[in-house]
Amino acid sequence: MVWRTLSARMKELLPGRAADEFMSGLAALRLDEERIPALADVSRRLHAATGWQIARTPGLLDAHDFFTHLARRVFPCTDYIRGPHELDYTPAPDCFHDIFGHTPMIMHPRFADFYQKIGQAALACKDPAVEEGLTRIYWFTVEFGLVKNPGGLRIYGNGIISSSGETLHSLSEKTAKRPFVPEKTAAQPYDIWHFQDVLWVVDSFNHLEKEFVRWAKEHGLL
Ligand SMILES: [Fe+2]
Repeated sequence: MVWRTLSARMKELLPGRAADEFMSGLAALRLDEERIPALADVSRRLHAATGWQIARTPGLLDAHDFFTHLARRVFPCTDYIRGPHELDYTPAPDCFHDIFGHTPMIMHPRFADFYQKIGQAALACKDPAVEEGLTRIYWFTVEFGLVKNPGGLRIYGNGIISSSGETLHSLSEKTAKRPFVPEKTAAQPYDIWHFQDVLWVVDSFNHLEKEFVRWAKEHGLL
């Protein structure tokens, strides 16, 4: 019921707002619109496309476990779904956020590689200040990133895509949009309880991966 409502709502909202790469990943996954999809099916399609797999996890993993999964091209997926009173936003990820929000982008080869590198870099990180920067980069790309598409500015961040309120807010005048530069993004604090004021824009997923690798190498993480 919650899945069906959220899925129908987002399918109406996303065309023209979500990145072309997200929309084609979503189409290729052929997610069930009526009920929570079987994780094994999603995992199989993901694996065929980019070599990633899904592991079911009961709740939030600690950071080390989470990044260990990513470094092995395994996406940890919660098996809980938000309540009907949380349709607009849930700060704790649920399976709508994880499956509908995250897996379509992992179908994209460049993003899939970038996502693994985030995991690898995080595991190599020893300096708390660099770790904080990495967490912010993660937040403002994977969860809240925007990309320039031929048709205009589009959303690829899963935290935005799995929330209709955040989807409308992110493309509005209410958010400042800045070009993604890892050094600058890493210096930008975020707030998980409110809509974001500043969002970062990548030119493409090649650009995202290239810039992230440059930053990570400069910090000895890759
Ligand atoms: Fe997420």
